Amino acid sequence: MIQKKLAGEKAAEFVEDGMIVGLGSGSTVYYTIQKLGELVKNGLHIKGVSTSSRTSSLAASLGIQLVSLNEVEKIDLTIDGADEVDRNFNGIKGGGGALLFEKMVAKASAKNIWVVDQSKRVNALGSFPLPVEVIPFGYTHVNKALQERGFKPVLRTENGEPFQTDSHHYILDIHTGSIDDPHALHQWLKSLTGVVETGLFIDIADAVIVGEKQTASIVT
Ligand code: 5RP
Repeated sequence: MIQKKLAGEKAAEFVEDGMIVGLGSGSTVYYTIQKLGELVKNGLHIKGVSTSSRTSSLAASLGIQLVSLNEVEKIDLTIDGADEVDRNFNGIKGGGGALLFEKMVAKASAKNIWVVDQSKRVNALGSFPLPVEVIPFGYTHVNKALQERGFKPVLRTENGEPFQTDSHHYILDIHTGSIDDPHALHQWLKSLTGVVETGLFIDIADAVIVGEKQTASIVT
């Protein structure tokens, strides 16, 4: 989709020689990674920290050198997609199931840029089902607590089986409706034993690049 391509490719302009770059996951940052692959072939030196097995395969196929998060003290810049972004740059992520690694990489990054198409910009978060990553052990009990709170959790599946993240966790997608207080919701979800991480990314993005019909604009 052209909007995703424009946003994704624009973000590559912020990558400088010598940087350690966090490589997000999804169909928008795919274009960033493709562009970085081209730049690397033309002499750009970067090291990438991947947020998913899919991104690792893509980056490696393009000749981008990868290092693990454990090997770096900090990441200069992470570029990632998002499922929703509000006016305060808070977002929902995890539509692709990579939220845990994405959040760890984002939090280790000096700067975070998100690449989205216009449809992802919202006034309030919560239309997109919020991914909650849980350990498989006893997840039905977390599910029950979410149900009791009225969030209508749905266990994410793939080919008829529970979808498993790269850490072999499950995802419960919850239906919150408009989220008035993302901080409070995140804290409550994290207080449930068995919840590993939530898809609420609060105070993380520094800038958002929005793909439009013919151009991409940077919102800071
Ligand atoms: C994966 C993510 C993605 O960044 C998010 O789902 C956006 O993906 P896309 O760019 O394909 O719309 O959080 O866990």
